[in-house]
Amino acid sequence: MFVEEYIERLKPYEGGKPIEELKRQLGIKGEIIKLASNENPLGPSRRAVEAIRSVAESVNFYPDGDCYYLKERLADKLGVSRDNLIFGNGSDELLELIFRTFATRDEDEILYCYPSFVEYKIIGSSFNKRLVEIPLKGFEYDIDALIDAINGNTRVIFLNTPNNPTGTIIKRSDIERVIEASDKDKTLVVIDEAYYEYAIAEDDYEELLDLYKNDNVIILRTFSKAYGLAGLRIGYGIASPQIVDYLNRVRPPFNVNIVAQHAALAALDDDEHIKRSVETNRIGKEYLYSEFDRMGITYIKTYANFILFDAKRDASYVYEELLKRGIIIRSMAGYGYKTMLRVTIGTKRQNEIFIKNLKEVLNV
Ligand SMILES: Cc1ncc(COP(=O)(O)O)c(C=O)c1O
Repeated sequence: MFVEEYIERLKPYEGGKPIEELKRQLGIKGEIIKLASNENPLGPSRRAVEAIRSVAESVNFYPDGDCYYLKERLADKLGVSRDNLIFGNGSDELLELIFRTFATRDEDEILYCYPSFVEYKIIGSSFNKRLVEIPLKGFEYDIDALIDAINGNTRVIFLNTPNNPTGTIIKRSDIERVIEASDKDKTLVVIDEAYYEYAIAEDDYEELLDLYKNDNVIILRTFSKAYGLAGLRIGYGIASPQIVDYLNRVRPPFNVNIVAQHAALAALDDDEHIKRSVETNRIGKEYLYSEFDRMGITYIKTYANFILFDAKRDASYVYEELLKRGIIIRSMAGYGYKTMLRVTIGTKRQNEIFIKNLKEVLNV
């Protein structure tokens, strides 16, 4: 079949290996621990599970394309207007809608730092956009270089804070500088805060919500991480009514399914679950830091639910050896970090099993 050359060149997204796949491949019968995709190790809120059960009999109906009740509740919770909100089939879909809506001309350039969330690159390549990658300085965004790279063709700038896979954050004043430097009529600044609920629990994470009041800014958040609903695919954007209106014109009418809408609505009211998830993450993080310290492993201080660490051994080797032991994490070799891996912070038990196996693999 004929495809354009840019489609031929694409490489499909490689996510964390699914548990079932590893079981099949290695014939592992026992427990498999997946700490590879920054999912919530406590699972979803019980209230969300109840909501999923109660909506099961209604899935013969199409979902409400406007997400009316969810929008109402979230607007109330965030203190924004309904017109400021848009929902997507995961925040991934919103990334795609942003490209389809705002980066439509051949000469359009997409600007992001690297390593950062790979979907900016993958989706951008799938739309055959010019991708301008600014290397991280150390493990942080190089805001001066990013600002220098802005030009008349820059259509979308992606800022990811906390940044996946480093866990580092961007200072609010630096984000404001990027907004200031970008043309309000031409350039959309996307602030991807997928790990917001974890980050805001840290004393020095600055609230960014009000930045949506800038006419060329959209903030993305998701129910996939702290809310524990990754399998249902639902995320949201907060932006000016005009940006939301444009995105809505391009959005497929029933993009967020009925189960996801009900579950997210219930999850929003379960503050206790979020509190427990964030606390579990904090305790797990302290434990992993202290074990890494004892093992002489260096790591980057994280504001999210994952840690980037340096095994000082070939990352692919460490990854494969852990896989054989039923533990799935992520090698960062593909990002140019040849000896680094990213591990999602799990439950106490999962973290302990991970550390025990890591010690075996590294012989420490
Ligand atoms: C930075 C970042 N943005 C967006 C996403 C996508 O989340 P969703 O499940 O809402 O599509 C992820 C998922 O890993 C992420 O790490």
